[in-house]
Amino acid sequence: MDTKVAIIKEDNINYEAINEAAKVIKKGGLVAFPTETVYGLGANALDEVSVKKIFEAKGRPQDNPLIIHVADKDINKYAKEVPDIAKRLIDEFWPGPLTVILKKSDIVPSVTSAGLDTIGIRMPYTKIALELIKASGVPIAAPSANISGRPSPTDVQRCIEDLNGRVDYILGGEESRVGLESTIVDCSVNPPCILRPGAITLEMLRSINDSIYIDAAIMNKPKEDLKPKAPGMKYRHYAPKAKLKIIQGDFQKTIEKINEMVLNYIDENLKVGIMATDESLPYYKVGEVISLGSRANLQEIAKNLFETLRTFDDKNVDIILSESFIREGLGIAIMNRLTKAAGFDIIKID
Ligand code: TXA
Ligand code: MG
Repeated sequence: MDTKVAIIKEDNINYEAINEAAKVIKKGGLVAFPTETVYGLGANALDEVSVKKIFEAKGRPQDNPLIIHVADKDINKYAKEVPDIAKRLIDEFWPGPLTVILKKSDIVPSVTSAGLDTIGIRMPYTKIALELIKASGVPIAAPSANISGRPSPTDVQRCIEDLNGRVDYILGGEESRVGLESTIVDCSVNPPCILRPGAITLEMLRSINDSIYIDAAIMNKPKEDLKPKAPGMKYRHYAPKAKLKIIQGDFQKTIEKINEMVLNYIDENLKVGIMATDESLPYYKVGEVISLGSRANLQEIAKNLFETLRTFDDKNVDIILSESFIREGLGIAIMNRLTKAAGFDIIKID
């Protein structure tokens, strides 16, 4: 398949490209596009045949439902009921990195929701995404625009890397500012439950309703008796090709441990990457070292996480050693993605 690529500007939108991409959606094709969280791979959410193409292009398991993207807050067509709490969350956090799960209406085909009677809905913040949805005239179903299992793409080059030849159109814009996928809150149950942590944090959600809680299964290795409620959260995800290990504990001791491990791996002729922070960067002398940013700025760490994992793959390292982050605020989402990418390989030191 020939893939057309158009890279446009968020602050000076080229509507010719938007209309061309919208035409592809209307005709049942696939369009990758930027959002503030990660790039999405979109198709007409209301058309079964179009949606099936997304699963094929990504190699995505059939039981993993898609999020539909809308351009305004009027979602009564797509949801059977919108409880008060969902309305308040939507009012407060849309457009933005929040997906709400609601009881699905019949106009959304069951392939989109992977057979569930609920549907995830989100209104992205990025103007290119909103304009594309408006021009298409339909909600756009879009998972992250990566091959299934790989770290989500946060810029257009990574979309091209994964999807060139597999989709009809790649609409490029700026880098995704958030860098992690949206927070998912299941509002089809009471109290609402966070199925995937993201940039809309637990504290932010609790400021609207303090009964909201996090699905206990998502921060730990999945067990038979404690499966994550979001079907997609059970898969190994976000994973670089290299083996990723997280070293968790006191800052100084983490640095010592990583330096000790690097030397051992180099002795075994392995190429090692170190996922550092601005604060620790000066203490690593060997290995491929990349800083995610400053510990004082978790937004920066989140934004750089997936791109850094992909950069280590470009460098063909065998092992990546990562520092760990505080499990508070945005740190909960960062650690959720990091521990999943590592297949829960965490070395705890005291
Ligand atoms: O930020 C985002 O949400 C990005 C951008 C493109 O908007 N999209 C995204 O989609 O991350 P995806 O498909 O990579 O992740 C969707 C997650 C999966 O874990 C899926 O299982 C869960 O949402 N999900 C979707 N619909 C659901 C539902 N009805 N019930 C429970 N979980 C659902
Ligand atoms: Mg994804």
